[in-house]
Amino acid sequence: MKKYIIANWKMNVNARKEAVKLGLATARLAQKYKKRTTIIACPSTVHISLLAKNTDYAPLFIGAQDITFHESGAHTGETSPLALKDFGIKFSLIGHSERRAVGETSAVCALKVRAAIAAGIQPILCIGELARDKKGGHYRFVEKQLRESLSGIPVLALRALMIAYEPVWAISSTQNAAEATPEDIREMALFIQKVLSDMYGTPKLPVRILYGGSVNTQNAAEYSNIEGISGLLVGSASLNPKSFEGIVAVV
Ligand code: 13P
Repeated sequence: MKKYIIANWKMNVNARKEAVKLGLATARLAQKYKKRTTIIACPSTVHISLLAKNTDYAPLFIGAQDITFHESGAHTGETSPLALKDFGIKFSLIGHSERRAVGETSAVCALKVRAAIAAGIQPILCIGELARDKKGGHYRFVEKQLRESLSGIPVLALRALMIAYEPVWAISSTQNAAEATPEDIREMALFIQKVLSDMYGTPKLPVRILYGGSVNTQNAAEYSNIEGISGLLVGSASLNPKSFEGIVAVV
């Protein structure tokens, strides 16, 4: 099965020229490695109109970093899933830890997951604990995020869903970030599947689980081969085409 590799540029690429340059370099990788990978780049919202629905970038998919849960109306500053869909957007991150850090709750994430699916956009729901503790509090934390972020989402909708496990303590921009071990990731991926099975009363659900947090050229091969992991969500290493190729080439 093809691996998904998502490049989350966050708010790091702000000049139009830079977005186009990085987009073209990423698109070349999407073309070169298309037999084994599906690559999705998530630029800032204003650059979506440059990169999406533009054959220069095929077969690279363009994704959104966030959406709103309203369809349209008096919602100043928001970007409707309908507007994104109209630009050919097929994927959106939802509930990234950097959004949760500024107050986005799991209840809001559930509304966004629902709105994305209704608009025909595949949600990439991000979950992950802030820290680990010896008593396994991180499992309870992730379970709560998962249950609340999928509250009211019917089982059939799960086909469109991807879950990105991104422990905040492993994200490169976190102070004193540490690399997760393959065992940390494998156990959490299994746990996420178990919680989903329990929530939906079905033994095996078709939900892809991705890993994100300090993914780099050294750890990408090992991370992407972990049982239960279908791809990687890459932040800082996706900003440099050379480092990104070092990841894409080995998954
Ligand atoms: P880094 O790869 O920079 O740790 O970022 C991970 C991330 O938050 C991707 O969404």
